[in-house]
Amino acid sequence: MADIITAVAPVNIAVIKYWGKRDEELILPLNDSLSATLDTNIMYAKTSVCARPDFATDEIWLNGKKESFESERLKNCLISIKKKAAAEKSVNNDFLSWKIRVCSENNFPTAAGLASSAAGYACLVTALAKLYKVNSDVSAIARLGSGSACRSIYGGFVQWCAGVDPQGVDSFATQIVDSSHWPEMRVLILVVADHKKKTSSTDGMKISVQTSELLKHRVQHIVPKRIDEIIDAIYDKNFSKFAEITMKDSNQFHAVCMDSYPPFSYLTDVSHTIIQLIHSYNKACGEVKVAYTFDAGPNACLYMLQSEVFVVISLLKHIFPSSNPEFVTGLTFIPEVPLSTEILQAIDIEPQATDLIKYVIHTKIGDGPSILSDGLHLLNEKGEPINI
Ligand code: DP6
Repeated sequence: MADIITAVAPVNIAVIKYWGKRDEELILPLNDSLSATLDTNIMYAKTSVCARPDFATDEIWLNGKKESFESERLKNCLISIKKKAAAEKSVNNDFLSWKIRVCSENNFPTAAGLASSAAGYACLVTALAKLYKVNSDVSAIARLGSGSACRSIYGGFVQWCAGVDPQGVDSFATQIVDSSHWPEMRVLILVVADHKKKTSSTDGMKISVQTSELLKHRVQHIVPKRIDEIIDAIYDKNFSKFAEITMKDSNQFHAVCMDSYPPFSYLTDVSHTIIQLIHSYNKACGEVKVAYTFDAGPNACLYMLQSEVFVVISLLKHIFPSSNPEFVTGLTFIPEVPLSTEILQAIDIEPQATDLIKYVIHTKIGDGPSILSDGLHLLNEKGEPINI
């Protein structure tokens, strides 16, 4: 009986954004990027894989639906892992010729700008690496699935070095610090919409590369300096510096989208109100206490220290009233000092319509992918998906 391997992998949220490729097929970026890996106890992709001699074709199920294995990105990941296994002679040739089954699911909304493909491909590549007994770095293989996926291969804060090699041998992820370095750091993900986004990241960045002058300036003159500065801020645990760079980089990424031709925008009115709220809050505090960042969707990701969580959640509940009894999910938090009237007066933003923010996920920095040993696979003994 062939082994079933099951992995879980984390979401990562970039603070210096990847936007634009120098090679579409190999998924090589124009600039370095840097992200925080989030705790898999709260948000994860889970993937089971198995290989057997009697499978006629490679098959895959994603979030409960059978999908085609004909995706180039998917096939590239599988081929690359097998090539590595062949080079490392980690399994025999018979095993390499067997077809595989893959079943994968996320515990958070797909394609809502919540980095689902990053966690998904990092998980697939981790599970395949275990199946084919590959022990070396697989971040460059995860990159072939989705660029940002390479950063989900490590925990803590992770840098994806763009590299200069045309074949991408120097384009992989490295860990800057592990998840224990800044234990007070917390993340709130504000889910303002969980519908599918309009312009995919892949399509959006293609338009930006072809048309945006701002992107050229960003790649050459802005990102290299920001990467150095944010790494220093992380090493020094300098939150206000970290936060300022994070917000500026998010804003510049969205400015690049608007500078593209035709322009496109991922931010909604609610996203803009969140931006305004965070700036007002920081101003009222006389110090940068919270940072926002937005990916290719309207959901906000807020970085803050643990001491700030209670007051920020109280503020969100006040400005964005909700009918959802489970408005905040994820980590529990201890009620601390309540929201002061001075802060509310200083912020001067009226409460908005109900349910503009659907829910909030409270999480923290976490570790990289892991192989599950609890036997809770998504495939049964016959290699068929369970629960479909
Ligand atoms: C805005 O990794 O989804 O989230 O490489 O084409 O699959 P592809 O794109 P993807 O792009 C992510 C872009 C981003 C910024 C980031 O995560 O760095």
